[in-house]
Amino acid sequence: MAHEEDPLEHERASWQPSPGLAVAVPDPVQNPDLPPHRERVTDTDPAAMKRAVRTVYTLFYLSVAGSIWAVAAYMIFPIEDGGIVSIRHNNLFIGLGIALALLAIGIGAIHWSKAIMSDKEFIEPRHATRGRDTTREAVVNAFAVANEESGFGRRAMIRNSLFAALVASIIPGITLFRGLAPQNSPGSPHAGDPVYLLSHTMWKKGMKLAHDPSGVPIKAEDVTLGSAFHVIPEELASVSHQDGYLEEKAKAIVLLMRLPVEDLHPAPGREDWGFDGIVAYSKVCTHVGCPVALYEQQTHHLLCPCHQSQFDVSNNAAVIFGPAARPLPQLPIEVDDEGYIVAKSDFHEPVGPSFWERH
Ligand code: FES
Repeated sequence: MAHEEDPLEHERASWQPSPGLAVAVPDPVQNPDLPPHRERVTDTDPAAMKRAVRTVYTLFYLSVAGSIWAVAAYMIFPIEDGGIVSIRHNNLFIGLGIALALLAIGIGAIHWSKAIMSDKEFIEPRHATRGRDTTREAVVNAFAVANEESGFGRRAMIRNSLFAALVASIIPGITLFRGLAPQNSPGSPHAGDPVYLLSHTMWKKGMKLAHDPSGVPIKAEDVTLGSAFHVIPEELASVSHQDGYLEEKAKAIVLLMRLPVEDLHPAPGREDWGFDGIVAYSKVCTHVGCPVALYEQQTHHLLCPCHQSQFDVSNNAAVIFGPAARPLPQLPIEVDDEGYIVAKSDFHEPVGPSFWERH
């Protein structure tokens, strides 16, 4: 084992903690020391060393041969149009060549380091991480001189105006974020009003609930006990892509389920928001907006696959697990004269994740 003199030993021995430090142990981790060095065969037997050297360069040349073979195989076994056999041969023989080349390099390098390179242990002395007092003083002085020469501390007008300029320079970047807010519905009186657009969907009284994506209206008698339908407003089909079809759909999508009436526990004021056990909830997760698409028929739980939020449909879609902060908004529904399920109104609260102006 090579023991080298620790150049900082004296400094460590005389090191004292500064008054503010509670721990006063200069070297709390004791040196575990190393076991005695054991010589290898190649260290003591020159013939063994020669053999090891031969093995290593043979492996490296074998690698060269593998690489050359891979290139040759590319030409010898070309891929012929549509020929599965030719593809197999081409891949097999090129692969064998590349595998041999990489394997031989790896084994050769390991053998080189294990048998030929020096394996003596060296000790790297640890040193105190605290800077020397002289260094620390020099840094403080450098700051003081820089402060004095630049006038940063003295010239309050310049300093404060610089702070103002730096803060103001961030504001244009923040303003640009407004461009991310929804701007769709060009024909609507609310185009360009992101708060309105985030707070309302296209559902309104009398609008039929329809299958997604076919747009076929749904009759109450079609919704059997335990079933769950993915729903869009029937009138969505008349919205063009330029007028924000995708944005409207993303806000208005709904899940429609039928539960045994006795399993439902509607919140006060919502007793008539469903019809004979049929209830409709927004499909947009209130966490960060993924579609809550997994319905567990037995437990009446809805699961969001993104971060595993779970909502209890029997209890007003309350959050029972996961990071979502509020229940899924409910769409009030009723049945019209022809038996179709229709909305009683828009949602009574914004769908999806919370946003800063949400009430
Ligand atoms: Fe639904 Fe995160 S988006 S749990």
